[in-house]
Amino acid sequence: MPRVIAPSMLSADFGQLERDCRMVNRSVAGWFHLDVMDGLFVPNISFGFPVCEAIARVAKKPLDAHLMIVEPWNYVARFARLGVQYLSFHYEACSDRRLRSTIRLVRDCGMRVGVAVNPETPAECLIPWLRHIDYVVVMGVHPGYSGQQYIPETTEKVAVLGEMIATLDADCFIEVDGGVSTRNIAELERLGAGVFVAGSAAFAAERPLAAIRALRDA
Ligand code: DX5
Ligand code: ZN
Repeated sequence: MPRVIAPSMLSADFGQLERDCRMVNRSVAGWFHLDVMDGLFVPNISFGFPVCEAIARVAKKPLDAHLMIVEPWNYVARFARLGVQYLSFHYEACSDRRLRSTIRLVRDCGMRVGVAVNPETPAECLIPWLRHIDYVVVMGVHPGYSGQQYIPETTEKVAVLGEMIATLDADCFIEVDGGVSTRNIAELERLGAGVFVAGSAAFAAERPLAAIRALRDA
């Protein structure tokens, strides 16, 4: 797949949310990444439906919602109604039974389904699921905050997952979320990743449009 950059709106200026959404519309970014946190699954609270709705009204590109919440299955239908096209939830938030039923629920609601894994969760945990999901979200940082340092072991995990997906001939792409920069993006892509979330690398830059282009072209 051609490289997709998904700016994380968590790093936008919420006082200028419309301006920042329009910037993403104008940029070479492929998707909008929406980080939803509940203060339970992660030690932080980000934003919920009203903010996602405000972004959805302005966004001219697909919305990729990343649920860092407990009991994600309770909110799947509402994200679908908002117009979200890609919905990921965490492996660590689910029993096997819930994982199976939530994957089905996301699909039944018409969205592509992703399963996100924390840095401590081994890639092998995903083996039974790779043929049943559209994408894996490999966290490059501990979920909860943007602007953290990339955890170097993430690179090896992406390599292992890339090989697993090829071996299983699974129709599944890899999204890397957290700590993505022009320093690591090309190698991660070479190892099999296709979608790259960028919070601080996009929004903390002096010229976000140029920063997003640099990520796309690095
Ligand atoms: C972390 C979020 C990420 C984060 C990325 O919990 O899921 O999407 O905002 O931010 P950076 O790119 O700054 O690591
Ligand atoms: Zn995210």
